[in-house]
Parts: sequence; structure tokens; C-alpha cells
Amino acid sequence: MQIDNTFQKIADFWSQRYRSEQFIWGQEPSPCAEDALPHFRAWGVRRLLILGCGYGRDARYFASEGIDVTAVDFAREGLDLAQSWLNDQHGLSLRLELDHILTLNLPDAGFDAVFSHRTLHLLMSVQGLEQAFDQIHRVLKPGGHACISMRSPGDPSRTGSTQVEGGAAELSFRPGHKVLYLPQDQVRTLLEKRFGVLEMTEMMERESMAKDYDVTLHYAIVERPG
Ligand SMILES: C[S@@+](CC[C@H](N)C(=O)[O-])C[C@H]1O[C@@H](n2cnc3c(N)ncnc32)[C@H](O)[C@@H]1O
Repeated sequence: MQIDNTFQKIADFWSQRYRSEQFIWGQEPSPCAEDALPHFRAWGVRRLLILGCGYGRDARYFASEGIDVTAVDFAREGLDLAQSWLNDQHGLSLRLELDHILTLNLPDAGFDAVFSHRTLHLLMSVQGLEQAFDQIHRVLKPGGHACISMRSPGDPSRTGSTQVEGGAAELSFRPGHKVLYLPQDQVRTLLEKRFGVLEMTEMMERESMAKDYDVTLHYAIVERPG
């Protein structure tokens, strides 16, 4: 995995969280994964790539529905937790790989669909987000789909945060947690440079098992032109 110091620090931050908090958002699938599954079935998705899989709650969900899943994350401790959690779940077609979203070590057009939940806002800058969208476009087959969520400016965690390099905000109650908050129109415009946008809505999910309030997320369903 190729990774620079800035992103290595972010990977270390997430590894530290998985070490201390383990199943940070519980073991059930995310709301975006539950929304995406019927779409994946309707599109006949067989090969799915998950970006920023953490400890694998959504990877487990999709794989247990018979989808062939490749799940990547750059936080080794998240993948280790996934490996030990899913160790006894035989028959799942699931590969966990250490990789960086900006420089994915994966072939062009190798996937029918891409899923990414609560991750792309961690790329620190608009330039980083654009690079991630380019990677999603590259690994999707023509006509393939992506379901992605990222934190939106309505997120209550944003209150009291401080601006850091690249335009991201560092959450006041969790040093090291840096989030790029972009308005929905801007995310849509960046997506429309590369994809057809089929749906763009807002989703909510509990911040974490430790914090009893909901964060708001942009949720987009897009298609790579055929
Ligand atoms: C908020 S967590 C969400 C994890 C998972 N999607 C879930 O909802 O359970 C974001 C994850 O994205 C990973 N991540 C962030 N930036 C990444 C990057 N550039 N490359 C690979 N993984 C990344 C982090 O290590 C972390 O595990």
C-alpha cells in the first residue's frame, strides 16, 4: 500500500479507535447498506467493492446475501477485528485487503458495484474526494453503480470543530477525527463530472455506540456511464 504521512496518521487514528472501542457502530449493517442491497439485487451485482470497510459489518451483510465482496481499509486493526469476527463464518465469499482509497491496488473495471459508508469525508480535501471518485469510476465496469455516504454539514458533531488543512474540520471532542463537510450541491457537482446521479438524499445514523445522537449523511446512488 502506498500512503503518505498525512494519511498514515489518519490510518493510525482509526486503528487506535478499533483497538480501544472495537465494534464502534455495533454489529448490524448500516442503514445505507440496508438501502443498497435491494438495488444491488435489482442490478444483478455479483462483484462488490467496499471502500473503508472498518471491521466489516457491511461486508459481512452483503457477503451473507451471496455477493462476492472485496473490502478494503487502510486501518490494519479494523481488518484484524473483521478477520477474527468473521473467522468462523464459512462459505462467505469475502476478501479483506489493506489498501488506500486514493491509490487502490485493484484492476480497472473489475466490479459491478462499489459501496462506501461514512468514509469519503475522511479524504480531507476536495482534491482528495475527486481522486476517490476517479478511483471509483476506474474500478467500476461501464454501466456499474456506486452507493456512497459521507457526513453532511448538518452533522451535530461539527459544533465547535476547528478548521484544519485542506478545508476539513477537526471534531472538538475527538482530536484527530477530521471531517470534510461539503454541501450537497457541491458533492452532486463533483459526482456529475464522472457519473449519472440516480438519487441523492440524506440519511441518519447513530454517531457511535458511545454517543447517543444521530449524524447526518449525504447518500448518493450513481452510475458509471456505459
Ligand atoms: C467511520 S469508519 C466507517 C467504517 C465502515 N464503513 C462502517 O460504517 O462500519 C471509516 C473507515 O474508513 C477507513 N478509511 C478512511 N480513509 C481511508 C482511505 N483513504 N483508505 C482506506 N480506508 C480509509 C478508516 O480506516 C475507517 O475504518
